[in-house]
Amino acid sequence: GKHRTGVPEGTPIVTPQDLPSRPRRNRRSESFRASVREVNVSPANFILPIFIHEESNQNVPIASMPGINRLAYGKNVIDYVAEARSYGVNQVVVFPKTPDHLKTQTAEEAFNKNGLSQRTIRLLKDSFPDLEVYTDVALDPYNSDGHDGIVSDAGVILNDETIEYLCRQAVSQAEAGADVVSPSDMMDGRVGAIRRALDREGFTNVSIMSYTAKYASAYYGPFRDALASAPKPGQAHRRIPPNKKTYQMDPANYREAIREAKADEAEGADIMMVKPGMPYLDVVRLLRETSPLPVAVYHVSGEYAMLKAAAERGWLNEKDAVLEAMTCFRRAGADLILTYYGIEASKWLAGEK
Ligand code: PBG
Repeated sequence: GKHRTGVPEGTPIVTPQDLPSRPRRNRRSESFRASVREVNVSPANFILPIFIHEESNQNVPIASMPGINRLAYGKNVIDYVAEARSYGVNQVVVFPKTPDHLKTQTAEEAFNKNGLSQRTIRLLKDSFPDLEVYTDVALDPYNSDGHDGIVSDAGVILNDETIEYLCRQAVSQAEAGADVVSPSDMMDGRVGAIRRALDREGFTNVSIMSYTAKYASAYYGPFRDALASAPKPGQAHRRIPPNKKTYQMDPANYREAIREAKADEAEGADIMMVKPGMPYLDVVRLLRETSPLPVAVYHVSGEYAMLKAAAERGWLNEKDAVLEAMTCFRRAGADLILTYYGIEASKWLAGEK
């Protein structure tokens, strides 16, 4: 209206600016803002990563990820997933911590029918038949060298030999009841090989979520703490690369993500993922526009750690910062969000403190 009620004393009286467009009109109230909001976040978008161990029957806190535990195999896993489901999060991705004595250079534990991973999948599907169970396909949690693939004595990560083992791993996860297998290893050609292996064994309904654009990032540190899975350089007579730069993508590269996306689509991926999340929103938007496949984004352990650290110091409003991050993933074009904040963010979305 024309009223100047409430305008502070001394404010100049001016002729209204001749503005045909005043975007602020559409921001005037929460009701109006909610009605014109372009994207929304829901617990249905979340995939919750869970760390599992069986070194004791107690959960073990992860120092660099406050609030996140390695869950003790059994009841503690069930309780955590039941809590997630009560808030509408019905998708989880399973990460087992392998005891050192089961790790080998060729990571056979990855396809042990009775391995911790396979037992966890069975436990989850027996307890919650309609839960969507995702798995990670890569050798690093089982490999004594701490790499996603098999390392030769000369320090080369062997592509095709690794693929053979990734196929066995994916099939053993499917046999255990996995709904979606997620190759995070970045070997060339693994998506197509895994698709053929699954189909050959009759698992035509098991999906593949490919880590399509997975970067060699510094933000995976806390995850490697959680699983004790970091590369282990400096072994006698063997040259173990100290990083994953010969298979994960260079953070400087954008066009290369198109190349990876085209390959994954042609090889039969069902969902494409970008990882990490917040520093890579341009790549999320790129995949959204390059392909009709659903796009997932991984809000990784280091991103979680940064938010927690700032929140603990009172430097950020955690709830607002986290929900903003989730909204921005959706705005950039992500359908699915893998996040350690899955339960907390869902509580906030439900209006809890
Ligand atoms: C294993 C894997 C990693 C993550 C997911 N799967 C670690 C890595 O590639 O070194 C990282 C997840 C996170 O940081 O939250 N291949």
